[in-house]
Amino acid sequence: MQLTALPTSWNIDQILDDLNKLGFALVDNAYPLEYVHDLVRECGLHLEEFRAAGIQNGVVSHIRSDHILWIDDQLPVAQRHINTLQSLSQVLNQAFFLGIKEVEAHFACYNAGEFYALHRDNPQQKNDRMISTVFYLHEHWQQDWGGQLHLQDKNGKWHTIQPQPNRLAIFLSDILHEVLLSKQQRLSITAWLRSGNSIWNN
Ligand code: OGA
Ligand code: MN
Repeated sequence: MQLTALPTSWNIDQILDDLNKLGFALVDNAYPLEYVHDLVRECGLHLEEFRAAGIQNGVVSHIRSDHILWIDDQLPVAQRHINTLQSLSQVLNQAFFLGIKEVEAHFACYNAGEFYALHRDNPQQKNDRMISTVFYLHEHWQQDWGGQLHLQDKNGKWHTIQPQPNRLAIFLSDILHEVLLSKQQRLSITAWLRSGNSIWNN
């Protein structure tokens, strides 16, 4: 894994404490605005390449209607976010012994009217996703535009999280969550921190 320093603004103790007690954590103003602008630009340049996330191998699923683009080294700006998440993985491994080895990520675009119904990213530990992260990269967001991340914490309590620009949401991959219907174009990067151990590997 390539390691870059975590942004100094990230309160690691708070992240660890929230993950431990609630199963999720938020980092606001995660990156310098210049980086966010570069990311928005890179995302915008590739929007035509996004594919319907609900269609895999020709099979249509109605659980989600967003469009995604997997991130590889052709997307160098997004790759820097992945590098940062690799460094975060090291910290999480030390704190929680998660054995994270890799980070896999895609851009996601929810156009007006799109959503992702209730699901877990790693139901019954069937795959090797340990931690899920979502970074919101649209440049402006209004509370009444919908598109909230609605999730159930470790203690069973539900939270409604606004997809606030430059916010990173971090949560255990087996918790229940959904993306409420968005009324505007909503851009994000979903990334999973994976142990590389699963026989399922989906
Ligand atoms: C996902 C997901 C939440 C969000 O991509 O699996 O649940 O807020 N995303 O975009
Ligand atoms: Mn999810």
